[in-house]
Amino acid sequence: MAVAAVSPATSRLAIGGIILANIASAILSPSLSSGRLRTALTQHASGMDIVGVLAVAFWAMLPAYVPNNAAVLVGGGPPIDGGRTWNGRRLLGDGKTWLGTAGGIVAGAALALGLNTIHSTVSDAVAGLPEFTLVAAITLPAGALLGDIGASFLKRRTGRERGAAFPGLDQLDFVVGSLGLTVVLAPGWFFETFTLPVLAVVLVITPVLHVGTNLVAYMLSLKSEPW
Ligand code: CTP
Ligand code: MG
Repeated sequence: MAVAAVSPATSRLAIGGIILANIASAILSPSLSSGRLRTALTQHASGMDIVGVLAVAFWAMLPAYVPNNAAVLVGGGPPIDGGRTWNGRRLLGDGKTWLGTAGGIVAGAALALGLNTIHSTVSDAVAGLPEFTLVAAITLPAGALLGDIGASFLKRRTGRERGAAFPGLDQLDFVVGSLGLTVVLAPGWFFETFTLPVLAVVLVITPVLHVGTNLVAYMLSLKSEPW
């Protein structure tokens, strides 16, 4: 019989596991039928979690991903720094305009509110997607552009001309700005949405998506540099 081939240590482990699972099920919910508990446990153990975490990360960050691209499309006109310089270099440069910033925030917030309207439909397929509060709908894109503006400031201070690459900063400035502003102004929503696994996924997929979309914008001649 197969059981005979199992070492005593393994069977002790298995028995221990069964006992633990029983205790856990008793604690978790006495009303939960064993069938439902089994489904819950299998879903937890399968790839469901990873897909769910990816979906939440992407969904929650979409309003922070679009503003930079929207700014490229609508940007132009008077620069935010009004042409002012500091130590002979522009404060920000002509690449940061009022129009681009406003357009980016409006685009990101509109997207967040748009996602809210399809939330209940999409939730049937993917559980755990957040709805955006009005504050989060604004802080996500506004923070993304603030991060981008902060990066511009640092680029000028380090002698980089408009459009020059700053590897690392270019890919993460807006995610830091977006999450930073949101954690300060919408902490409740932030901690409910950005669990540690979600945050980890955001930090990994953001640079990848950023490089990819900028490359596409460059190939479509929307941007003058591929970063
Ligand atoms: N843009 C804008 N306002 C912003 C951000 C971007 O108008 N707040 C527009 C500008 O036309 C800008 C383009 O989007 O040239 C690309 O954005 P980005 O790469 O962030 O700016 P750069 O031109 O590279 O300038 P910098 O070196 O200062 O980042
Ligand atoms: Mg640039």
